[in-house]
Amino acid sequence: MTAAVWSKVDEYIELKLVKQDRANSQALRANAEAGLRPIDVSPAQGKFLNLLVRMSGAKRVLEIGTLGAYSTIWMAKALPADGAVVTLEYDPHHAEVARQNIKRAGLSDRITVRVGAAAETLPLLAAENPEPFDLVFIDADKPSNTVYLDWAIKLGRPGTVIVLDNVVRDGQLVNAASSDPNVLGSRGAFDLIAANSRLSATALQTVGAKGYDGFAIAILD
Ligand code: SAH
Ligand code: DHB
Ligand code: MG
Repeated sequence: MTAAVWSKVDEYIELKLVKQDRANSQALRANAEAGLRPIDVSPAQGKFLNLLVRMSGAKRVLEIGTLGAYSTIWMAKALPADGAVVTLEYDPHHAEVARQNIKRAGLSDRITVRVGAAAETLPLLAAENPEPFDLVFIDADKPSNTVYLDWAIKLGRPGTVIVLDNVVRDGQLVNAASSDPNVLGSRGAFDLIAANSRLSATALQTVGAKGYDGFAIAILD
């Protein structure tokens, strides 16, 4: 099977099942116009995150890595009216595009974008003693995955769902000799999860419009 087939199947999934609405497609268009790299989750994956929020009954979502808020909007739309997403973004330009997309989607009251390196904004957030987060989506700089997992655990509660994007990396995940910092980020995350008895986890390999990759998913006991 080739990438062309994966993309065609993703299109079919999107057309039949995903039912992306205006807010989602407008955000992708605005991202492209603003020159953001198209590294958002795919529509099928965005819908998957949306369903995960609903299935877990999450009310408070933490996202690390906003880009143009495409994934953020998918998750926020799954929340009840009193739900909230806090999303952390390093790049002020990305954050600005994200805020515009969020505003256009009518979700400004439910989503807060915090600008700065997440390794710096996470301790600031924690110092505010927030209510625990019910779901954490980690999708920023991959070498910091273990740092972000530690914060997800600290800011979570028993039952918190943690999702990590881009862990399979064209199969490089199993290349123990790799010196790619992103691959080391995936492997480090797996080591941390494996060593933490509070985390029950698996990972799912994915193919589609974004190539061959995968998510890790864990629940905090
Ligand atoms: N979750 C988004 C995609 C995020 S892309 C979606 O699916 O729509 C990764 C984002 O992480 C980029 O916008 C990048 O600027 C941001 N990022 C990179 N390093 C970061 C850091 N140290 N702290 C916070 N965000 C960071
Ligand atoms: C990249 C980052 C992502 O989060 C992603 O889903 C795809 C690609 C990247 O930095 O290249
Ligand atoms: Mg990603």
